[in-house]
Amino acid sequence: MAIGLLCASLVLCLLVCFCDAAQRERVIVPAVDRRDNPPLSLSSSWQVLGPFQIGTRESTWGADPLEYIGGFRKLQYDPDARFRSSLPTNGTAKWNITEATQVSTSPTSANASLSISYSNVDWDFLKVVYGWAAVQYQAWARGELTVHGNGTQHVILYTDAILEYWVDGIHYFGGDFYTYRKAPPVLYVSPGRHNIDVRLVRDVRAFGGILVPTIDVLLHVQLTSGILELAKPGILMSDVVDGRLASSVGSVVLRNGGEVDIEIVDIQSSHVRPPISLQELESQMVLAQDSRVLTAGQAKRTSTPNNASGIVLVAGQTRPVAFDISLPTYNVSSVKYVITYRTVESNQLGTLKISQNLTRTSVYTSHKITYLHPGGMVSYAMLRPPAKNASCTPGQRASLPVLLQLHGAGLEADNGMVAHALDPVPDLCAWVIFPTGVTPWSGDDWHNWGFADVEAAVNSIPSWIKYVGWTGPDVDINRWIVSGHSNGGQGTWYALTHRPDKILAAAPASGYASIQKYVPYELWQSADPRRTAVISASLNSYRHEMLMSNAGGIPIQQQHGQLDDNVPAYNSRLLAQQLFLSGANSSYNEVPGQNHWWETVMTTPQLVSFYYTQTKGDEILPRSLDEFEIVIGDPGDMGSKGGIKVLLLEDPGQYGRVHVDGHITTSNVLSLEFELTVFKSQAVTIDNDIVGLGEASGKRGAGTVTISRQNGVWRPGLLDESNSILYRRGRQLGSNTAILRTQGAFIIRHQGLNTTSHIALQVSRNLHQYFQADTEVIPSISQNGTGIGTGNVITIALSNHLPSSLHPDFPIQPNSSGVVVRDSRGRQRQYSSDDTSLGATFLQPLEEERLELVLWGSDAEGLAQAARLVPMLTGVGQPDFVVLGESAKWKGVDGALAMGFFDHKWEITPSSVVS
Ligand SMILES: *[C@@H]1O[C@H](CO)[C@@H](O)[C@H](O)[C@H]1NC(C)=O
Ligand SMILES: *[C@@H]1O[C@H](CO)[C@@H](O)[C@H](O)[C@H]1NC(C)=O
Ligand SMILES: *[C@@H]1O[C@H](CO)[C@@H](O)[C@H](O)[C@H]1NC(C)=O
Ligand SMILES: *[C@@H]1O[C@H](CO)[C@@H](O)[C@H](O)[C@H]1NC(C)=O
Ligand SMILES: *[C@@H]1O[C@H](CO)[C@@H](O)[C@H](O)[C@H]1NC(C)=O
Ligand SMILES: *[C@@H]1O[C@H](CO)[C@@H](O)[C@H](O)[C@H]1NC(C)=O
Ligand SMILES: *[C@@H]1O[C@H](CO)[C@@H](O)[C@H](O)[C@H]1NC(C)=O
Repeated sequence: MAIGLLCASLVLCLLVCFCDAAQRERVIVPAVDRRDNPPLSLSSSWQVLGPFQIGTRESTWGADPLEYIGGFRKLQYDPDARFRSSLPTNGTAKWNITEATQVSTSPTSANASLSISYSNVDWDFLKVVYGWAAVQYQAWARGELTVHGNGTQHVILYTDAILEYWVDGIHYFGGDFYTYRKAPPVLYVSPGRHNIDVRLVRDVRAFGGILVPTIDVLLHVQLTSGILELAKPGILMSDVVDGRLASSVGSVVLRNGGEVDIEIVDIQSSHVRPPISLQELESQMVLAQDSRVLTAGQAKRTSTPNNASGIVLVAGQTRPVAFDISLPTYNVSSVKYVITYRTVESNQLGTLKISQNLTRTSVYTSHKITYLHPGGMVSYAMLRPPAKNASCTPGQRASLPVLLQLHGAGLEADNGMVAHALDPVPDLCAWVIFPTGVTPWSGDDWHNWGFADVEAAVNSIPSWIKYVGWTGPDVDINRWIVSGHSNGGQGTWYALTHRPDKILAAAPASGYASIQKYVPYELWQSADPRRTAVISASLNSYRHEMLMSNAGGIPIQQQHGQLDDNVPAYNSRLLAQQLFLSGANSSYNEVPGQNHWWETVMTTPQLVSFYYTQTKGDEILPRSLDEFEIVIGDPGDMGSKGGIKVLLLEDPGQYGRVHVDGHITTSNVLSLEFELTVFKSQAVTIDNDIVGLGEASGKRGAGTVTISRQNGVWRPGLLDESNSILYRRGRQLGSNTAILRTQGAFIIRHQGLNTTSHIALQVSRNLHQYFQADTEVIPSISQNGTGIGTGNVITIALSNHLPSSLHPDFPIQPNSSGVVVRDSRGRQRQYSSDDTSLGATFLQPLEEERLELVLWGSDAEGLAQAARLVPMLTGVGQPDFVVLGESAKWKGVDGALAMGFFDHKWEITPSSVVS
C-alpha cells in the first residue's frame, strides 16, 4: 500500500498525511520489483468469435445471439465449432485467434489494441441492400490480464470503444463507447491471470460508414493509488479575462480508487493560507460538520444518511466536485488547492493537491466561462461578447441577441476548430456562444441533457456581465440565432423545432435529420411491430423530419457539402423538402465539391451574410403568426410557438398536433397554455368549443392562461391542480430519458447488497462517463429521496425489496413472485419469476415534479438486464416502462414482455404493449 495512515491521534495522523500526500501525487509504487517485470500485462493473442448481426444502437437491449446458448462466457475456444449467423458465407461464424495490433506495458500500466475484421462477409453487397446498417455487427473477444508479483493490485480499466465486458465472470455494462476515459471501473486484482471477455459492437456513427468495417478497440489497465485521486488532471475553471476570472465556479473530478468510502472534508486555496496549519484544519472540520463547506455541490445538501457532512465517494466511484474559485490578490500563473478528505469508517485524514495553469486572454476574444448545469455539476462554454468596434445601432433594441454555434460529435468546444470558427466575422452584433452540451457528443446529441446545458450557458451571460463588470451592449437571452455543424447541425434543428418562440433565425450545416435517417434501423433482431413502434415512439421528439412545421415563420439558411460521405446531403435535402411541404421555408445552399467539413464551413459567403443580416434583425419575438401548426413528441422538451405551449398529450406514445388558423384544431392534446401578450384574443374556438381566455390564469401565473380538455370538452384550467403525485407533468414527461431532467445530482439508492452495489456503481459510472453527471450513491432504500437531495432518484432493488411508490395505485407492482402490470383496460397481467429471471425498469413520480427511475430484478441477472436501459447512448428508444424476460438477451426488443408509456394520470396508455 502506498500510504498507511496508522495514527493514534488526529495530530499524528495529519502529519503523516501531509508528508505522504506530496509523494502520492507523483508516484504509485507497485507491489513488485518493476526493474525486471512490469506489474501488469494483457494478452497479445485473443480468441475471437463472430460476426453476428446487430442493429443501430440495438446492443443496449441485449440482442446477442450467443446468449441463446448460455452466453460467450460459457463457451470455450474450439476452432471446429460452427455457429449460425446471418452475415458470413455459409451462414456460419467461427472462432479464430487474432493478434492484438499492439500490446505495451509500462511500470504502471498495460495496453492491448485490437482491430477485428471479417473477410468472409460480402460487406459491399450487403451495403447495397441494407445501407450503412449492414456494416454494423457484433463479435466477442477473449483475453487475459495478468498480475505479476505477489500483491493484490488496485487498477482502473479503460475500455475505449467498448460497451460491455466481463472480468472474471463479473459483468460490466456501459464501458466507454466514445472513448471519453472519464469513469473507468476500479478493480482489485489478485496475482495471476484474469479472464477478460469483451463484446465488440460496430457503430457507424462512432466508427464511420465508408472505410473497411473494422472494429478497433483498446484496453488499458493502469495501477491506481488505492485512495482518493484525480480522475482528470487539472481544474475545470474559466479563463482569466483582462485580469479577472470570467466566472467563479470550478470543478475537479475525483475518483475513490480504494475499497473504503471517502468523504471530502474541505477544499482550500493554498495561495490564501499556505501552508494550512493544523489548527485551521481542525476548525475547518468543525465547519464541515455544520455543512458549511464552500462547495457548490454541497450547498444544496441538507442531510445524509450516514451523518457525513461532506461529499461522499463510495469505493470505486468517480464524482465531479464543484467549488468556488477566486484568484489571489497577487499575480499568479496558476491556482493551487488542497482537498482534505477522510475515510468514512476509520476517520483517517488525507490530502490531495490540485492545480491549474491560468489561461489569460482579452474579454473580447472567445474565452471559457463556467456555470452550473441543472444536474448540479459544472459545465463550460466559450463566449465571445460583442466586439468593441462593432457598429451596432440596435435601433429600438438596447440589447443584442445570442448567436449559438453548436459543435460536431467528438469535439470539445474549447478546441480551436470550434471556438475560433467565427473569427473571420469578428464584428457581429451578437453574443456569440459555443456551448459544449457537456461532452464531446453533447451529452445526448444536444437533446435533453445537452440542450439543458445550452440553456444554462445562455442564462449565465447576465451573471458574467455583472461578474466581469462589462459595460458594453446588453444581452437578450430570449433571442437566439442558432447554428451548428454536423451533430451541431442536428442540434440546430432540435433548437429550431423545440424552442420556436426564441429563435430569430437558424443555420443548420451538414446536420442529420434524425438518428434513424442517419444510420437506418434495418437489421435489428426481428420483432413484433407493436414493440418496434414503442421504441420508435420513444424517439418521437428527436425525429426532426416530422417536426418541420414547428419551424414555420423562422428564417433558415441550410448548408451541406454536396459530396458529404459522413452525413449524406440527403438529410438536408429531405428537411428542405419537408419544410416546403409543411408550409415553412428555407434557403438551401448545397456547396459543390465539398465533403463533410472544410476550413471555412461555418463562414461561407452565404452564412456570413446570413449572420450579419439576422443579428441586425429587429423582428419582435415571439412572432405572432396568423396560421401555424405545432407538432409535438414530448411536451417536457417543448417550448411555445406563437404563444401556445402544449402542456399534455393524451397518449404520449403518439405525436400531438395543434393547428391554428383563426380557430384551433388539436389532435392527441389534453392541455394548452396561451401567452396573452402574444396570443391577443379574449376567447378561442378550439375543436368546436369556445373558451374564454380571461377565466383562469395559467401555470406560470399572470399573463398566461391554461385550458384543458375534460370529458371531451375544452375548459379553462389545469387537469392537475389537486394532487402533485397523482398527475404527471412538466419535467416528468417524456420517455425514460425524462430522468435526465434532474435538478441537482442524481441520487442512486440501493439495497446494500454486493449485487445492488455493483449495479449502483455501474449506473454512477455510466452517468458520469456519458453525461459527466454527478451522482450520490446511498446503500439504503429506506428513504424516499426527500431529504437526501433535490435530484431525481434511481432506485435499485431485488425481489420484494422495492419500497412502495408514492403513487397510491401505481400500475406496475414488482413483488417476490414476479411483476403485476395493469394495462390500459384495467386488466392485471401477472408475469411470474418462478422459473425465469425478470427485470423491470419504469419511471414513477416523486414530489415537486421529481422523478424516480426504478431498476428491479427478480434476481441479480434480471436486475442487470433492467440496468442496461438507464439512459446513456441516444437512439436506444427506452420507453417509460419495460418488463424484460430472459429472452431479451438474444431477441432484444422482442424479449420485452411489456413496454410502453404512462399518461398524465400515470396509467398505462393504449399504445403500450402488455402481452
Ligand atoms: C514473492 O513471493 C515469493 C515466495 O513467497 C518470494 O520468494 C518472492 O521474493 C516474492 N516476491 C516479491 C517481489 O515480493
Ligand atoms: C457450412 O455450414 C454447414 C452447416 O452449418 C457446416 O456443417 C459446415 O462446416 C460449414 N462449412 C464451412 C466451410 O464452414
Ligand atoms: C496505453 O494507451 C493510452 C491511451 O492511448 C496511453 O496514454 C498510454 O500511455 C498507453 N500505455 C502504454 C504502456 O503503452
Ligand atoms: C479470422 O476470421 C476472419 C473470418 O474468416 C478472417 O477475416 C480473419 O482474417 C481471421 N483472422 C485470423 C487472425 O485468422
Ligand atoms: C503549467 O505551467 C508551468 C510553467 O509554465 C509548466 O511547466 C507546466 O507544464 C504547465 N502545466 C500544464 C499542465 O500545462
Ligand atoms: C457478490 O458476492 C458473491 C459471494 O461472495 C460473489 O460470488 C459475487 O461475484 C459478488 N458479485 C459481485 C457483483 O461482486
Ligand atoms: C418522504 O420521506 C420524508 C422523510 O424522510 C417524509 O417526511 C415524507 O413524508 C415522505 N414522503 C412521502 C410522500 O412519503
